[in-house]
Formats: sequence, C-alpha cells, structure tokens
Amino acid sequence: MSALPDDAPCEPARAEPAYAALFAARYDDWLAAPNSDATVEFLASIAEQGPPGPLLELGSGTGRVVLPLAARGLTVEGVDASPEMTARLHAKPGGDTVCVTPGDFSAPPQPPDIGRHALVYAAGGTFAELDTQAAQRRCFASVAQRLRPGGAFVLDSHLPEALATVGTGTQPVPTPGDGFVLRTRILHPAHQRYTSDYLVLDDGRMRHVRVSFRYSSPGELDLLAEFAGLRLVRRTGGWSGRPLTDASTHHVSVYELPA
Ligand SMILES: C[S@@+](CC[C@H](N)C(=O)[O-])C[C@H]1O[C@@H](n2cnc3c(N)ncnc32)[C@H](O)[C@@H]1O
Repeated sequence: MSALPDDAPCEPARAEPAYAALFAARYDDWLAAPNSDATVEFLASIAEQGPPGPLLELGSGTGRVVLPLAARGLTVEGVDASPEMTARLHAKPGGDTVCVTPGDFSAPPQPPDIGRHALVYAAGGTFAELDTQAAQRRCFASVAQRLRPGGAFVLDSHLPEALATVGTGTQPVPTPGDGFVLRTRILHPAHQRYTSDYLVLDDGRMRHVRVSFRYSSPGELDLLAEFAGLRLVRRTGGWSGRPLTDASTHHVSVYELPA
C-alpha cells in the first residue's frame, strides 16, 4: 500500500500489477470477471448513441471485453501496463485488430489522442486498481482529455456498503482443472481501500499475490467526474442495465463530456 497522502503532488508511476506479471497465462481461468456478454451489449449500445470514433478500454487485459466489441465491427483500442496480459489478448482470434498502448491509463494522453475517443470505459473493477484518490482524479482528467465532445466514460464499481457487508471474507475461486485458488478480501476503511489476497496452488507450487484497490462512493466518483468536466448521465445496478436499488452490490456509471 502506498504511504503517500491522497493529495500527494507527485506519485511514482504505476508498474504492472503483480498478478498480471505472474498469472497472465491463467487469468482467464481464475480471475476474469463474469458478465462479459452484458458488458459488451451495454457498451455497444452506448457507442451507438454517441459520436462516431474509436472506443478505448482502460486496462484491456486479456481482451475479455475489447475482443467481442471488435468482433462487432467497432474500432476498439486498449491501454494496459502489462505486456503479458496484452500478449494474451493479441494471441486470441481477432487480437491482431486491437491496438493496445502500453502504459498507465491514469496518465495524461499524448497529443494525437487528445479529443480522439468517442467512448472510454473501465470494466471488471479495473478503475479501483488506482488505489489513491489522486490517481483516480488524474484518471478522470485524462479521460476527459481523450474524449470527443458528447463522448462517454463508463466504469463499474462496488457499492462500498455492499462491499463491507457481503463482499469481504475468504472464498475459493472456481477453477477448471486441478489448480486451486483462494481469495481473501479485507476492507481497510481507515484508508478507503480493500485488498484481495490470492493463494494459488498451481503445478504443486503455492504462490501468493496481493492486489490493492480503492473503493469510492458513487457521490465521490461524481465529484471527481465534475472536477474533470464530465457529468453523470446514467447509473445502473450493473452491466445488465437493471435499476440501481438498495439491494445492488455494484453500479455502472456513465459520464458524458458535454458537447
Ligand atoms: C482486473 S484486469 C481486467 C481486464 C479487463 N478490463 C477485463 O475486465 O477483463 C485489469 C487490467 O488492468 C491493467 N491495469 C491495472 N492498473 C493499470 C494502470 N494504472 N494502467 C494501465 N493498466 C493497468 C492490468 O494490467 C490488467 O490487465
């Protein structure tokens, strides 16, 4: 965990996450989020309603979402800090059509990318991997710079109250084959973070990896968006588009750069 205060003016550049370097080859079996079809449908329908232009996934990973979107004929790009995850994406059918820029997705875009994307999105809890408020704020600013007027930023997130009540504890992660993965999620409310510790038994070897996340209330995300010049236009209880209710555990929020 970073010891830097949230408003530190200068954070070290983020390196590739440890789980990505260690487990890219097994990521799809062990760690990938479910609901890919709903995610793809949701994003394709937002893209249809927005301005023309390419889509960009922040943390495109092994291509769970970006590849089905590309298969629909949409121009989709990615940005990812992990060369191993990106190599997996490129090795899949259609992977050669998706351009992935290596690097930190919270960094400001370079001039050719300013105002170029019609839709930027972060799926599978990826936004929360930015584990300080400063990094999340920088990311909103970076997305706003990337978007065309009328373009959208879509992200998924835990609802903090649900994370605290039903989202923590130790669970086996369903794994095909004879591997074994145990995840322990612990909340650190004093720092507005949670950690997921994975214990992995693979080929007779036990390994451990920790991922640190920062959870945010929907209201905080809305403020970060507002600071960046984006405004909330839709919030649902998940990628299926179901309404957000008191029983929801996650939300999907759609922000727009006003035209
Ligand atoms: C949990 S995976 C999700 C991948 C994909 N979005 C999905 O839903 O299947 C997160 C991905 O984001 C990348 N990532 C995490 N933090 C990043 C950052 N600050 N900059 C660039 N990539 C990052 C990781 O390397 C990894 O490939």
